[in-house]
Amino acid sequence: MNSQIDFIQKISESVAKDTFVRLTLSKNADRSSSLKKVLIKLAMIKKELQYSFVFRHETQDITKNFSLKNGEEELGKLIGNEFWIANLFTTERDFVFEKNKKGKTNIRNGKPTFSQKPDRQHDKDKSGLIHKTTYLQELGILDNKDRVQKGKGDKYKQIKKFVEVVADLLRKNPQILANKLTDVDGQKPMRIVDMGSGKGYLTFALYDYLVNVLNLKAKITGVEIRENLIEICNNIAANSKFENLHFEQGFIQGYELPETDILIALHACDTATDEAIAKGIKADAQLIICAPCCHKQIRKQIKDDSLLEPILNFGILKERQAEIVTDTIRALILEANGYKTKVFEFISMDHTGKNVMIVGQKRKKEIDPTIYLEKVKELKKQFGIDFHYLEKLIPRFIK
Ligand SMILES: C[S@@+](CC[C@H](N)C(=O)[O-])C[C@H]1O[C@@H](n2cnc3c(N)ncnc32)[C@H](O)[C@@H]1O
Repeated sequence: MNSQIDFIQKISESVAKDTFVRLTLSKNADRSSSLKKVLIKLAMIKKELQYSFVFRHETQDITKNFSLKNGEEELGKLIGNEFWIANLFTTERDFVFEKNKKGKTNIRNGKPTFSQKPDRQHDKDKSGLIHKTTYLQELGILDNKDRVQKGKGDKYKQIKKFVEVVADLLRKNPQILANKLTDVDGQKPMRIVDMGSGKGYLTFALYDYLVNVLNLKAKITGVEIRENLIEICNNIAANSKFENLHFEQGFIQGYELPETDILIALHACDTATDEAIAKGIKADAQLIICAPCCHKQIRKQIKDDSLLEPILNFGILKERQAEIVTDTIRALILEANGYKTKVFEFISMDHTGKNVMIVGQKRKKEIDPTIYLEKVKELKKQFGIDFHYLEKLIPRFIK
């Protein structure tokens, strides 16, 4: 087991020289174990440099912190015994420890993946969803001591809730995560496009979660009309060293979607949500996540001469009704296009009024769209609606 001792020596040397970036243990000898990986980083905890271990089980992460001495003892138990592969990233070299079926071990090394060591600051956010906080400071959500700024509590809750929703969706759709790990050669990045990214609060937090918490390869593009926001967001992404997060100026309508795994459109105005959904469907995105904003297109068409006349006489109720009809038709069109669709409140009304989320998860099998299209037709008839904008964008279903 000399390779094992040598490998642990390399880890402690990199810690001593302050070149350690991170360490990942994979290939559990017991394939039936729920423990799949261990992700190890260094963090300043109570003014002491410690190893922070995340034990990644199938359904949950368990974090444990160890002093440097105890951490190395723990690594001695894990590397080459419980786990057969260990990837050590340092700013000087990358090292891989491997053990094969015959019990033979060896160490390979190569050029460093990372040229800079990460921030050793311990995650202050106990949810474990937010790793780095500098972008939240630059966006004005946190102050320079990571305290939530006055008046920004709701936005902060919304950011965390959004990441929580995506984390849950990824757990339920593991095919999206396949072949996306940072520390395995030849892995493809997860491609995400955020339409109408605005100031990018949610885009930054999602990138941070995927890359720094989940250790995935991810490429995110924010698309936004407002040029000043593009410049601000690209500067913050560069300052945060979020290398694969970019913002582009443009209209959702004209944006050519690349190969896309996840399409996001949060609070994109009125029919911009439909434009985004249509792009996601055409690109065959695995997940389409949107939180619609204003619903003017259908509101103008709803006729007051139906059975609903007493409700539609009240402005606010007509507005709510228009929202419900608009989003129901969106959900039905997603279903007709092979997306298992959920509509839910993603955050309490106390934090934002715009809290309805529509999520489409691409089904593995083709479905017959007829039943959903019939429902769209019936709804339109009931409310005297000529057309829903999304139908025009997906013309194959217009009858
Ligand atoms: C209410 S903000 C939401 C920002 C962000 N998605 C969030 O939830 O925090 C909507 C953003 O979408 C942008 N937007 C609206 N219509 C758009 C379009 N057709 N193309 C690109 N961006 C658009 C607006 O400029 C605005 O910044």
